[in-house]
Parts: sequence; C-alpha cells; structure tokens
Amino acid sequence: MRVIRKSNYEEASMACAELIASQIRLKPDCKIGLATGSTPIGTYKDLVDMYKAGSLDFSKVTSANLDEYRGLGGDHDQSYRYFMNTNLFDHVNIDKSKTFVPDGLEADAVKACTDYDAILESLGHLDIQLLGIGGDGHIGFNEPADDFCVNTQCIDLEEQTIQDNARLFFGGDLAAVPTQAYTMGIGYIMKSETVILMATGAGKKGIVEKAFCGPVTPRVPASILQLHPNVVVIGDEAAISDAVVAKAK
Ligand code: F6R
Repeated sequence: MRVIRKSNYEEASMACAELIASQIRLKPDCKIGLATGSTPIGTYKDLVDMYKAGSLDFSKVTSANLDEYRGLGGDHDQSYRYFMNTNLFDHVNIDKSKTFVPDGLEADAVKACTDYDAILESLGHLDIQLLGIGGDGHIGFNEPADDFCVNTQCIDLEEQTIQDNARLFFGGDLAAVPTQAYTMGIGYIMKSETVILMATGAGKKGIVEKAFCGPVTPRVPASILQLHPNVVVIGDEAAISDAVVAKAK
C-alpha cells in the first residue's frame, strides 16, 4: 500500500491525475475504472487540462464506471453517465462507445447486473480503478453487508448515503435521490492491476482510518483493499491520518 498525502484538495487531485495520466501515456490503450461523486471532480478537471494542453491522448482508452442509479437515464442531470460526460468525456477525445456505465434505465435488475458483468468480463481486468469512499466505507455503491459482493449487484442505498448524496447533489432534495443503484462488485474492483482510493476532507478521516487500519470486514467494504497488492491511497491532510501513513509499505 502506498499513501500520498498532500496538503489540500487541489494537490491531491493533481497527484491522482498524474498517476492516471502516467498510465495512459505508458499504455495508450489502457482500461480505466472511473468513479463519480464530489471527490474526483478536481482530478477530472486536471485530466481535461492535460488533454487541452496536448499532453494526453484518450483516443485508445477504455473506461468502465463503478455505478449508476437505478431508474436514471444518461440524459438525467443527476445520473452518473451525465456526470461523466460533463466532467470528463465531453471535453477529451475519448471514444464514447468505449466508455461503459451500468444501464440505469434497465428495470430488470438481474439483467442490468448480468449485462454489466458481461461487459466487464469482455474487458478483462482493468489497469487502474479509481475509487472514492463513502462515509460508511462503501466503494462503488457496495454498502456495508454480511459478505463482500463479488459481482455487479442492485443495492439498496443506506440512509447515510442517500443523505450524503442529497447534500452534495440533487439540489439537496432528499426525496429526489434514488434509493437503489447498480454497482460493480468488489470482486471486479479487486481484479484491477492498481487501485487508487482518493479521499479528501475531514469528514473522511475516520472512515479512511477504519478502512486501512481496522479489521478487514464487509461491514467496512473498503477494508478489503488492505488485501490488494497494489493500492494507492491519495488524499489531503484533513482526510489521511498519521496512522494511515504509517500503514504504507
Ligand atoms: C461514486 C461511487 C461512490 C463515491 C462515494 C464518495 O461512483 O462509487 O462510492 O465514491 O460515495 O462520494 P464523494 O466523493 O461524493 O464523497
């Protein structure tokens, strides 16, 4: 486990963008797992800036996103497809037909999950998976549970997640936040060559420490990353405690 602790959000975002950019330069046809939420917005902006400056080429990159709200289509401004388009895909030369997000409009949950697993299977493993972390330790939308879920699943979102998402998105309207989402399973996340977990802000400090310094348990889904051979934790001083830095090998 590597830990990169920067003094603020901007520097952490740039460190994360640099890692992703290095991967794309090293292997132009790489496969990258992407996250949404507030955390990676700065990183996506930095990647767009690199592309506009002519130092990054997305033309051969394939991407797979972690999750999508069940019931929201790509045109809905709170869907994760829309988020990816507006924060990254619309501003770089990525081939959108090679950007994958679970189909939120597929009402049949079993089909939505098996379809996404078939796509992921066809991609093989990812080179890099970017993750944020939820206040309850979720990665993707894999919420605390009795077991680590291997495959893509339809999940009932926890109350805390619904509240966090209403606070940051959906114009603060709790009732507008969907209660279910399709999420890539933890099995596929763990298959990625490298996993980058990014966490910033004081609100994440406790859960990041729990995830990387506490026991490995499906009650804290991100704790499974302690078993990944190549995980990089990137964050700011507010989110990354000394105990997490001390865990770096
Ligand atoms: C989003 C995702 C979630 C978020 C997490 C943190 O695709 O998979 O796990 O990474 O909820 O969200 P923010 O970054 O908004 O704190």
